[in-house]
Amino acid sequence: MSDRHGIHIEGLTKRYGHGETAVDALKGVDLSVAPGEVVGLIGPSGSGKSTLLKCLGAVIEPTAGRMAIGAQVIYDNGWRLDDLRALRRDRIGFVFQAPYLIPFLDVTDNVALMPMLAGVSDREARQRARELLDVLEVGHRARAMPTQLSGGEQQRVSIARALVNHPPVILADEPTAPLDSARALTVIGILNDMAVRYNTAVIVVTHDEKIIPTFKRLYHIRDGRTHEEAGEGLLLTPPEVPVHA
Ligand SMILES: Nc1ncnc2c1ncn2[C@@H]1O[C@H](COP(=O)(O)OP(=O)(O)O)[C@@H](O)[C@H]1O
Ligand SMILES: [Mg+2]
Repeated sequence: MSDRHGIHIEGLTKRYGHGETAVDALKGVDLSVAPGEVVGLIGPSGSGKSTLLKCLGAVIEPTAGRMAIGAQVIYDNGWRLDDLRALRRDRIGFVFQAPYLIPFLDVTDNVALMPMLAGVSDREARQRARELLDVLEVGHRARAMPTQLSGGEQQRVSIARALVNHPPVILADEPTAPLDSARALTVIGILNDMAVRYNTAVIVVTHDEKIIPTFKRLYHIRDGRTHEEAGEGLLLTPPEVPVHA
């Protein structure tokens, strides 16, 4: 059984607190992302986007519903796994708005740390890190310290860190917010390329008007429920399409 068959969420609910002050942040979310696909998750502030990513990333526990990564059910009205830390470490890559690189480790070790924590030898972990940094075109910065990098370079290193254990799922929360238009589109282009190359399912939470037209498929989250819609998929449309006379 392959574990690379994307993410599937059905009827997911999340209630914070109890009684009169309870907040129903998610009221029955359905969402499915295929391997190799990048979907956008958009919605107003307070609509439940971060709650959904935290549930999927096993950072908080849902109240009810079902979540699966590939064929493996991870949550079905309760966790179906004993080791949630291993799930977070090996099966899910996180990309945040800020790169959160470790300031006293060089670029290679910021990335290599993830496989090292998963038990891979230091030598092999650094090898994997360097290969991925090359793919992301920051290989020439491998020995630099994080503060020596530009914002766009730091974000690429944080993407390398999210990908290095080859997780089937990447969760990105506002990954382009601090970047200018060209760099934001580059980061989204990289996420699309990486999704295809490593057969990863990617969810990008965003408000960023610059990147919303790049998604082929979007989920709007409103009032605790998701509504699916087709996007423009502009980044993926070849610019050479002939113009009709
Ligand atoms: N830890 C928490 N305790 C209580 N309510 C929370 C907590 N986290 C989020 N909420 C509430 O859940 C709802 C969804 O929040 P959130 O998932 O952060 O939305 P978004 O990321 O879309 O801005 C909001 O009403 C928010 O106030
Ligand atoms: Mg949020």
